[in-house]
Amino acid sequence: MKIAIGCDHAGVALKNEIVPVLRELGIQWDDFGTNEDKSVDYPDFGERVSEMVSQGKVERGILICGTGIGMSIVANKFPGVRAALCREDYTAKMSRLHNDANILVLPGRIIDGETARNVAKIWFTTDFEGGRHQRRLDKIRAIEERLLKAP
Ligand code: RB5
Repeated sequence: MKIAIGCDHAGVALKNEIVPVLRELGIQWDDFGTNEDKSVDYPDFGERVSEMVSQGKVERGILICGTGIGMSIVANKFPGVRAALCREDYTAKMSRLHNDANILVLPGRIIDGETARNVAKIWFTTDFEGGRHQRRLDKIRAIEERLLKAP
Protein backbone atom coordinates (compact mmCIF):
# COMPACT_ATOMS: atom_id res chain seq x y z
CA MET A 1 0.00 0.00 0.00
CA LYS A 2 1.14 3.52 -0.81
CA ILE A 3 0.20 6.37 1.52
CA ALA A 4 0.84 10.10 1.99
CA ILE A 5 1.80 11.48 5.36
CA GLY A 6 1.92 15.05 6.62
CA CYS A 7 1.87 17.14 9.78
CA ASP A 8 2.41 20.58 11.20
CA HIS A 9 5.10 21.48 13.74
CA ALA A 10 2.99 19.96 16.55
CA GLY A 11 3.00 16.58 14.78
CA VAL A 12 6.63 16.10 13.74
CA ALA A 13 7.66 14.11 16.83
CA LEU A 14 4.70 11.73 16.60
CA LYS A 15 5.19 11.30 12.85
CA ASN A 16 8.73 10.10 13.50
CA GLU A 17 7.42 7.73 16.18
CA ILE A 18 5.02 5.93 13.84
CA VAL A 19 7.35 5.45 10.88
CA PRO A 20 8.58 2.08 12.27
CA VAL A 21 5.01 0.75 12.07
CA LEU A 22 4.80 1.67 8.39
CA ARG A 23 8.06 -0.15 7.75
CA GLU A 24 6.89 -3.18 9.74
CA LEU A 25 3.64 -3.37 7.74
CA GLY A 26 5.43 -2.94 4.40
CA ILE A 27 3.64 0.35 3.69
CA GLN A 28 5.33 2.79 1.31
CA TRP A 29 4.93 6.45 2.21
CA ASP A 30 5.56 9.87 0.71
CA ASP A 31 6.29 12.47 3.38
CA PHE A 32 4.74 15.86 2.56
CA GLY A 33 6.33 17.61 5.56
CA THR A 34 6.74 19.52 7.70
CA ASN A 35 9.86 18.15 9.25
CA GLU A 36 10.87 21.06 11.46
CA ASP A 37 9.78 22.48 14.80
CA LYS A 38 9.31 25.92 13.21
CA SER A 39 5.67 27.00 13.38
CA VAL A 40 3.72 26.34 10.16
CA ASP A 41 0.05 26.42 9.17
CA TYR A 42 -1.62 23.01 9.29
CA PRO A 43 -3.97 23.68 6.31
CA ASP A 44 -0.95 23.82 3.97
CA PHE A 45 0.14 20.31 4.90
CA GLY A 46 -3.35 18.92 5.31
CA GLU A 47 -4.18 20.08 1.81
CA ARG A 48 -1.25 18.25 0.19
CA VAL A 49 -2.04 14.89 1.77
CA SER A 50 -5.81 15.19 1.37
CA GLU A 51 -5.46 16.04 -2.31
CA MET A 52 -3.36 12.92 -2.90
CA VAL A 53 -6.07 10.76 -1.31
CA SER A 54 -8.97 12.63 -2.93
CA GLN A 55 -7.42 12.25 -6.39
CA GLY A 56 -6.68 8.56 -5.82
CA LYS A 57 -2.91 9.06 -6.14
CA VAL A 58 -2.44 7.16 -2.88
CA GLU A 59 -4.74 4.72 -1.16
CA ARG A 60 -4.65 6.34 2.26
CA GLY A 61 -3.10 9.13 4.31
CA ILE A 62 -1.97 10.11 7.78
CA LEU A 63 -2.22 13.67 9.13
CA ILE A 64 -1.00 14.91 12.48
CA CYS A 65 -1.40 18.26 14.26
CA GLY A 66 -1.59 19.20 17.93
CA THR A 67 -5.17 18.17 18.66
CA GLY A 68 -5.95 16.51 15.32
CA ILE A 69 -8.92 18.83 14.97
CA GLY A 70 -7.48 21.28 12.45
CA MET A 71 -6.24 18.51 10.18
CA SER A 72 -9.62 16.75 10.41
CA ILE A 73 -11.45 19.90 9.37
CA VAL A 74 -9.16 20.42 6.38
CA ALA A 75 -9.14 16.79 5.22
CA ASN A 76 -12.91 16.35 5.34
CA LYS A 77 -13.37 19.24 2.89
CA PHE A 78 -11.93 17.05 0.11
CA PRO A 79 -14.30 14.93 -1.98
CA GLY A 80 -13.92 11.26 -1.25
CA VAL A 81 -11.88 11.83 1.89
CA ARG A 82 -13.11 10.20 5.07
CA ALA A 83 -10.73 11.42 7.76
CA ALA A 84 -10.97 9.98 11.27
CA LEU A 85 -9.40 11.48 14.37
CA CYS A 86 -8.33 8.52 16.49
CA ARG A 87 -6.68 8.61 19.87
CA GLU A 88 -7.26 5.04 21.01
CA ASP A 89 -7.75 1.52 19.65
CA TYR A 90 -11.55 1.52 19.54
CA THR A 91 -12.00 4.53 17.26
CA ALA A 92 -9.12 3.30 15.11
CA LYS A 93 -10.90 -0.02 14.62
CA MET A 94 -14.40 1.39 14.14
CA SER A 95 -13.25 4.08 11.71
CA ARG A 96 -12.11 1.31 9.40
CA LEU A 97 -14.89 -1.23 10.03
CA HIS A 98 -17.80 1.19 9.73
CA ASN A 99 -16.51 4.35 8.04
CA ASP A 100 -13.85 2.99 5.67
CA ALA A 101 -11.74 5.95 6.82
CA ASN A 102 -9.00 6.72 4.33
CA ILE A 103 -7.10 9.32 6.35
CA LEU A 104 -5.98 8.64 9.89
CA VAL A 105 -5.66 11.83 11.92
CA LEU A 106 -3.57 11.73 15.08
CA PRO A 107 -3.29 14.31 17.88
CA GLY A 108 0.43 14.92 18.33
CA ARG A 109 0.06 16.77 21.61
CA ILE A 110 -2.31 14.29 23.23
CA ILE A 111 -1.13 10.73 22.69
CA ASP A 112 2.28 9.16 23.13
CA GLY A 113 4.31 7.17 20.60
CA GLU A 114 3.24 3.76 21.84
CA THR A 115 -0.45 4.64 21.67
CA ALA A 116 -0.01 6.11 18.19
CA ARG A 117 1.81 2.99 16.96
CA ASN A 118 -1.00 0.75 18.25
CA VAL A 119 -3.63 2.98 16.68
CA ALA A 120 -1.79 2.98 13.34
CA LYS A 121 -1.30 -0.81 13.42
CA ILE A 122 -5.01 -1.42 14.04
CA TRP A 123 -6.06 1.18 11.47
CA PHE A 124 -3.94 -0.33 8.71
CA THR A 125 -4.87 -3.93 9.41
CA THR A 126 -8.65 -3.58 9.82
CA ASP A 127 -10.86 -3.98 6.75
CA PHE A 128 -14.09 -2.17 5.98
CA GLU A 129 -17.15 -4.29 6.79
CA GLY A 130 -19.32 -3.06 3.91
CA GLY A 131 -23.01 -4.01 3.92
CA ARG A 132 -25.18 -1.40 5.65
CA HIS A 133 -22.11 0.74 6.18
CA GLN A 134 -21.54 0.98 2.42
CA ARG A 135 -25.09 2.31 2.06
CA ARG A 136 -24.22 5.08 4.52
CA LEU A 137 -21.01 5.93 2.69
CA ASP A 138 -23.00 6.10 -0.53
CA LYS A 139 -25.22 8.69 1.15
CA ILE A 140 -22.17 10.74 2.12
CA ARG A 141 -21.01 10.55 -1.50
CA ALA A 142 -24.43 11.72 -2.68
CA ILE A 143 -24.23 14.73 -0.33
CA GLU A 144 -20.78 15.58 -1.71
CA GLU A 145 -22.03 15.34 -5.27
CA ARG A 146 -25.02 17.56 -4.54
CA LEU A 147 -22.81 20.20 -2.88
CA LEU A 148 -20.25 20.07 -5.70
CA LYS A 149 -23.00 20.73 -8.24
CA ALA A 150 -24.54 23.58 -6.21
CA PRO A 151 -24.28 26.99 -7.93
C1 RB5 B 1 -0.78 24.53 16.41
O1 RB5 B 1 -0.42 25.29 17.51
C2 RB5 B 1 -2.13 23.87 16.64
O2 RB5 B 1 -3.13 24.85 16.61
C3 RB5 B 1 -2.38 22.81 15.59
O3 RB5 B 1 -1.37 21.87 15.64
C4 RB5 B 1 -3.67 22.03 15.71
O4 RB5 B 1 -3.83 21.51 16.99
C5 RB5 B 1 -4.87 22.67 15.19
O5 RB5 B 1 -5.98 22.14 15.21
